[in-house]
Amino acid sequence: MGLTLTEKIIKNHLIKGNMTKGASVAIKIDQTLIQDATGTMAMLELEATGVRCVKTELSVAYVDHNMIQEDFKNPDDHRFLQDMAAKYGLVFSRPGNGICHHVHLERFAVPGKTLLGSDSHTPTAGGIGMLAIGAGGLDVALAMAGMPFTLIMPKIVKVHLTGKLSPFVSAKDVILEVLRRISVKGGVGKVLEYCGPGVKSLSVSERATITNMGAETGATTSIFQSDDITREWLRAQGRERYWVPLYPDDDAVYDEEIDIDLSLLEPMVAKPFLPDNVVPVKEVAGTRVDQVMFGSCTNSSLRDILTIAHMLKGRRIHPNVDVGLSPGSRQILLQAGAEGAIEDLIAAGVRILEASCGACVGMGFAPPTDGVSVRTINRNFYGRCGHASGKVYLASPEVAAAACITGVITDPRGICIEPYHFEMPSNLIIDEGMFIAPSPEPERVTVRRGPNIKPLPEMEPMSNKLDGQVLIKVGDDITTDHIMPAGAKFLPLRSNIPVIAEHVFEVVDPDFSKRAKELKGGFIVAGMNYGQGSSREHAALAPRYLGVKAVIAKSFARIHLANLVNFGILPLIFANIDDYEKIDRDDRLVFDIGQLNVESQAVLRNLTKNMEIPVICPLCGDDLDVVKAGGKLNWIKLITSTN
Ligand code: F3S
Repeated sequence: MGLTLTEKIIKNHLIKGNMTKGASVAIKIDQTLIQDATGTMAMLELEATGVRCVKTELSVAYVDHNMIQEDFKNPDDHRFLQDMAAKYGLVFSRPGNGICHHVHLERFAVPGKTLLGSDSHTPTAGGIGMLAIGAGGLDVALAMAGMPFTLIMPKIVKVHLTGKLSPFVSAKDVILEVLRRISVKGGVGKVLEYCGPGVKSLSVSERATITNMGAETGATTSIFQSDDITREWLRAQGRERYWVPLYPDDDAVYDEEIDIDLSLLEPMVAKPFLPDNVVPVKEVAGTRVDQVMFGSCTNSSLRDILTIAHMLKGRRIHPNVDVGLSPGSRQILLQAGAEGAIEDLIAAGVRILEASCGACVGMGFAPPTDGVSVRTINRNFYGRCGHASGKVYLASPEVAAAACITGVITDPRGICIEPYHFEMPSNLIIDEGMFIAPSPEPERVTVRRGPNIKPLPEMEPMSNKLDGQVLIKVGDDITTDHIMPAGAKFLPLRSNIPVIAEHVFEVVDPDFSKRAKELKGGFIVAGMNYGQGSSREHAALAPRYLGVKAVIAKSFARIHLANLVNFGILPLIFANIDDYEKIDRDDRLVFDIGQLNVESQAVLRNLTKNMEIPVICPLCGDDLDVVKAGGKLNWIKLITSTN
């Protein structure tokens, strides 16, 4: 039986397991990436493993998320990352060099290799044929320390593309169509593998837009073949030597299939507040727009920027619309400048922002009160744009550019502009001057830590009987942004768990942290897809610091489930979804851990309501031992001391 692309790469990297669907497999990780928001903690975790140097083929530390330097905290974090990278053998990508996913795609991604990144949009590199997976910082730290990465063998979905995109319809519309069809939960436990004749019409940058935002379906990752288009793209980047052909076998067997005729797609938007809230632009055309933001890791390629510049050239942005653009990388910014695009954008009134993430989470570029912001980013969660009243519509660069011109949501096909056909420039500017190689004398590197960089908190092993109150009950689709908010107020606290823990659930329940401390921890009850969104492990680590013992949910998002295990919080799933109604906030729950030694089905007792509630423990392999040990670092110390 033939193999899919995903199966081929997993097979080539298999360390443990037999690739049975739903069973756990451990794979070798070739490359890792971290960024500053998750990276300071990942570096502390790498340090805690006791290794002296990363064991991967390549590990890169990026500074892209939080560039604001209004006090010492962020620059201290950046300096700490630079020193740690020098000491532990990582390449350091300096602030200003660009957004991790874009820079990694341009300079480091290699077809057929594995990449683990402490950022949920790591699958961007799937656009070049890499098996690129987002994970919590601790999993990435352990991969840097040379340990395999364990995942549940995913189902493989064939996304069969035919036809060719029409003018003013682009890659963003493809992934919005996928989200429209399968929702923000539809990819959980799956890899989206794109194939079919339509693939040939998409450049690597367009493919990367699709794989990037595949994260919003909850998928383990998304991937494209490595073909002649990939080879050409690598050649333009001066990296053709890394090209290998990579295709699924003709008789590969897929678990599911989605067919998309590209020629039938039309411009679409995702309305607030979920990326799967997708409608054709014509349904919301005429909605007043206050702000447009171009860029982020999703739509900030050279192709995107030249397209926007073409549409705005010789025009002036609408007086009601504030427009900002974050290029994906410094290299793209330089090239767009050389092409005259930056001049055209500035002349039109666009504010050129840093090649960084900031605006994506509302830092330095947030909409006004109750404002509508059309953004080419990948997430439009409640509060994601920097405050709760902003309403974000996710759209392609073409739709966003049309809104700049008209001041309202507009189908770009209705504006009298010639379509733009992007050709990769023959002499692409390549500039690696903002990378710093690891030190040749790591033992001589002194790591400088600012006062805000605190050691990792000690974690106690789990007691046999979990007993406590329900601290909070939340609904479906709670994101890591709800649990541990991002933004300018919170990001500088990422290396200080005692302080950042005071803000857990702040956007939904400002008293959560105080209550959790007073009650010495307890339980969280949640609906479907708990922990979707960002990979941030602080959404598990900070609740654990506050004493959270278990989360009982209807279902979990993949990365967050792994993060809960990594920090010693027990995840439990309602065996009967309706039992969610049988628990309220403040109820006292008791759970006997010993039950789980026998089978995954167990009973949770609600003492307040005198009820027994059947639950399932979704753990496999060593996960239960990890949770019992109080988290993965404790567990690793335990097994290495007993071996
Ligand atoms: Fe950065 Fe936003 Fe992407 S925070 S990594 S640009 S999703």
